Amino acid sequence: MENCKNGCTNGESNCDDHVPGAFKASDITVELTDSPKDKPDPSNLVFGTVFTDHMLLVEWSVEKGWQRPAIKPLQNLSLHPACSVFNYAIELFEGMKAYRGEDGKIHLFRPQLNMERMLRSAKRLTLPAFDKQELLECIRKLIDVERDWVPRSSAASLYVRPVFIGTEPSLGVKRPSKALLYVILSPVGPYFSSGAFSPVSLWADPKYVRAWRGGTGDSKVGGNYGNSLFAQYEAQGYGCQQVLWLYGEDEQITEVGTMNLFLFWTNEHGELELATPPLDGIILPGVTRRSILDLALKWGEFKVSERYMTMAQLVTALKEGRVKEMFGAGTACVVCPVGRILYKDENLEIPSKENKLAARVLKELSDIQYGRTPSDWLVLVGDS
Ligand code: COI
Repeated sequence: MENCKNGCTNGESNCDDHVPGAFKASDITVELTDSPKDKPDPSNLVFGTVFTDHMLLVEWSVEKGWQRPAIKPLQNLSLHPACSVFNYAIELFEGMKAYRGEDGKIHLFRPQLNMERMLRSAKRLTLPAFDKQELLECIRKLIDVERDWVPRSSAASLYVRPVFIGTEPSLGVKRPSKALLYVILSPVGPYFSSGAFSPVSLWADPKYVRAWRGGTGDSKVGGNYGNSLFAQYEAQGYGCQQVLWLYGEDEQITEVGTMNLFLFWTNEHGELELATPPLDGIILPGVTRRSILDLALKWGEFKVSERYMTMAQLVTALKEGRVKEMFGAGTACVVCPVGRILYKDENLEIPSKENKLAARVLKELSDIQYGRTPSDWLVLVGDS
């Protein structure tokens, strides 16, 4: 019997590391396109608009279980209109990036964290479990097939988008008996068209909520993002670029647009602190969020906290000149400084002239991601 750290006896359905019948990377089939596309200029990329030549597909059904993973030419999906993905939003996704270092080597950044989150999202949507390590191996093979698509630029990377959907062609509101997991790849430059590091403006109003306790805010499900658009466009109507998502009677500040939120300030006890809201069910457990916390804890220069912060505390701290910086953090943009918050008809200016901490975080993370600083957070793609 295999010795499992989760205490399972090899193959119990509640164990995240032993998934009976999971697909295996060694079974992968590869069908290459006979019409490869030209690679784009890495300095002209608009986020998520260009896709590579191939994709990974893995089908699952109750009757047959997981099928062999297949790398195939990028293609449209043909799905019955009754599929649960279209009718009941049985959809989840991930986002990570592959980076080419100056030595030409390609790495993924902490992809195990994405695999763990994806498995949690799958459980939350009643989609079948998969073996995280085997999926990561399949993704590494796909990127290796597409290695020429990983930009030769330290301002660009290859965005990896795993997607998992319910494909049962029935209108019954139930756990899908068919599902499809696929992965597509897209070479990307900076996420925001305004440039990689220009401060964003936020609209803060408790009128809309991104997530609620007991909901799916801590899962990376498409519905969370589709739901956010109405407020996003209202924010733009008020001249702001993103929404500052508030929660509860005390107007806790939770996330910024599609990003986790960080506040660097002298807190109410006079301590210099880098703070982000805790993972209490309404916050997405971001990989960049975790990495910023890990870096700042390693530096040991100031207090690092996962704690609640309210709008009232932020307003008081701004009035008293205690706020140093505020920034969003996510895979797509890495870090994004906040310059202004529109709250109760008042524009709150956030000190963002230098954004020293955000710039330091961006530099340290990029140095790791592009292989300039050795780190065990990198996972190599291919053998060289
Ligand atoms: C991220 O930055 O990690 C995101 O989730 C943004 C993505 C939805 C485009």
